Amino acid sequence: MASRYSEVYAAWKTDPHGFWADAASAIDWFKRPERIFEPAGGTYGHWFPDGVTNTCHNCLDRHVEAGRGEQLAFIYDSPVTGRIERISYADLLADVKAMAAIYRKLGVDKGDRIIIYMPMIPQAAIAMLAAARIGAVHSVVFGGFAANELAMRIDDCQAKIVVSASCGLEPGRTVAYKPLLDQAIETASHKPARCLIYQRDMLAAEMVSGRDIDFAEALAAARDAGEEASCTPVASTDPLYVLYTSGTTGQPKGVVRDNGGHMVALRWSMEHFFGVNAGDVFWAASDIGWVVGHSYIVYGPLLNGCTSVLFEGKPVGTPDPGTYWRVISERGVAVMFTAPTALRAIRKEDPEAAHAGRYDLSRFRALYLAGERADPDTIRWAERALKVPVIDHWWQTETGWPVAGNPLGLGLLPVKYGSPAVPLPGYDVQVVDDAGHPVETGTLGNVVIKLPLPPGCLPTLWNADHRFHAAYLEEYPGFYKTADAGYVDEDGYIFIMARTDDIINVAGHRLSTGAMEEVCASHPDVAECAVIGIADPLKGQVPAGFLVINANVSRETEEIEKEVVGLVRERIGPVAAFRTAVCVKRLPKTRSGKILRSTIQKIIDRQPWTMPATIDDPAILDEITELLRSKGIGV
Ligand code: COA
Ligand code: AMP
Repeated sequence: MASRYSEVYAAWKTDPHGFWADAASAIDWFKRPERIFEPAGGTYGHWFPDGVTNTCHNCLDRHVEAGRGEQLAFIYDSPVTGRIERISYADLLADVKAMAAIYRKLGVDKGDRIIIYMPMIPQAAIAMLAAARIGAVHSVVFGGFAANELAMRIDDCQAKIVVSASCGLEPGRTVAYKPLLDQAIETASHKPARCLIYQRDMLAAEMVSGRDIDFAEALAAARDAGEEASCTPVASTDPLYVLYTSGTTGQPKGVVRDNGGHMVALRWSMEHFFGVNAGDVFWAASDIGWVVGHSYIVYGPLLNGCTSVLFEGKPVGTPDPGTYWRVISERGVAVMFTAPTALRAIRKEDPEAAHAGRYDLSRFRALYLAGERADPDTIRWAERALKVPVIDHWWQTETGWPVAGNPLGLGLLPVKYGSPAVPLPGYDVQVVDDAGHPVETGTLGNVVIKLPLPPGCLPTLWNADHRFHAAYLEEYPGFYKTADAGYVDEDGYIFIMARTDDIINVAGHRLSTGAMEEVCASHPDVAECAVIGIADPLKGQVPAGFLVINANVSRETEEIEKEVVGLVRERIGPVAAFRTAVCVKRLPKTRSGKILRSTIQKIIDRQPWTMPATIDDPAILDEITELLRSKGIGV
């Protein structure tokens, strides 16, 4: 089938408002928007500003009303507990209505914030959808973050209540969430009024009397009593959620998502980009703590009337590298989404993809990859193993849905390995030099998107319009700065090569080296430090810290290194995968005192590097090279 991509992209370019007005008719509105886009000062504008809607209604009620109640909304497949649960749209709606009634009874009003700190269990999705139902704003925090990170988020969004669970399950260990939550609440200056705690069979959490409520008991009681909350009409521009993501400092950025634009964009992407229809099974193997989980485990599939797989496990070790293929086969997955790092982990344990041969994958149509650059070798391996298109696509927490990719729903374009293909309608992607001038085709530069961003992308940062403007809009006036470096080739294919800031990508997780440096520097014996991302064959990148110790310290450096590693784990969390800290005598700097992080990184990654003309003392680089060799650090 010839691809309709060029025709559809051109239709958007010719009449962007008409394009999104059409797309908006695929969702239910209490008041249909008459105005499609309105520019605004401070940020860049609002989509569907006079529309009134509700995201939960569009995810659940409308499907049940249309006779889809018996269809499965979620299949919870949990190899770490051995549980499989099938949850129909009707059942999910009943739980969500009851949970929304509980929120209301606890005094949660439209616009109030609810923090959700939970593992990959259906109750997490119920907590999200119930918030959406009453117009409350949820903020999900990934379970791999430490108490301190949770505390920062509680403070920043001034959460009225927290929903959590007794534990999460990581291979080989049970992660007790509740003590982390208790510690976070103790640290935070803002104290949430109540906590709803889901007690899991494998670990009972101790409850704080007067504050903590048993999630399951409360839900069962509300359902028995027939307590239900109806959908609160919200403005299209009202926030649905805040999702914190790494910025350049230790203070994460609260990415805001609105209701109307978000639904319109996700609904469009499910059908026209991922090529799935109502009734299809869609599986995003991510976590609800990340944007992928928000967009493509919960909201996108439900808005589209699909069945979404909620998977609590890992690509390997739960129990073997065939788990993904088992889920595809047993759950009848049509389209799956994962990160390249997961495929690298599987390939490492099963290079011949023997496990894939054990399963019937005949209903499987495509595998989508994002979160980090998809290396051509991994894509080719997956194509051979699965015999379906393996499609790289590129986006960010900020955009909420793909910026570029090969659209299965419009008909695939020829594949260019190493490129997430072409921009999707809504996105005018350009490449500029540091002064903001367009670069020649094929030349590496800063990847920017012409404003306005399409529906679904962040309208601003939570309570921080100024930071939003400074971080994304100021540097290239009229454009959104992606902070990715890349180029566009002669066929309009985009290549994303690296970040232009200090964000690193560890196993598909986005982390700030700046935040890690703040933690390292807080160790009393550390005078100064640099954290950089070094190449890792499995995780893409891993962080490594270089520490200069205070002159008067006579302790063993190994001891300090160990303490710093422990500190990062304790303050940021295990997800940072910070295992390497090395004490050095000095850090290489320019004459103006800027640490030469990228030069250190090149030395470690054995990439060609040149002596920076501005370095204050070239001998430092030899010292560092020698030290790294002796410690066997680097690929
Ligand atoms: N709760 C608590 N701890 C968590 C956690 C969670 N939800 N998720 C991860 N962690 C912990 C892990 O247990 C691990 O701890 P450890 O240092 O004690 O071993 C640490 O955080 C790092 O986890 P992870 O990045 O998952 O590394 P890993 O070595 O355990 O597994 C992969 C490597 C490649 C298998 C794994 O990263 C993976 O499945 N990646 C898929 C990527 C993905 O889903 N990305 C989402 C964006 S699309
Ligand atoms: P996150 O906000 O966690 O989704 O991370 C977004 C960042 O991940 C992007 O800015 C890119 O640096 C990187 N990224 C995501 N997808 C891709 C991709 N397909 N190719 C290259 N980099 C990617």
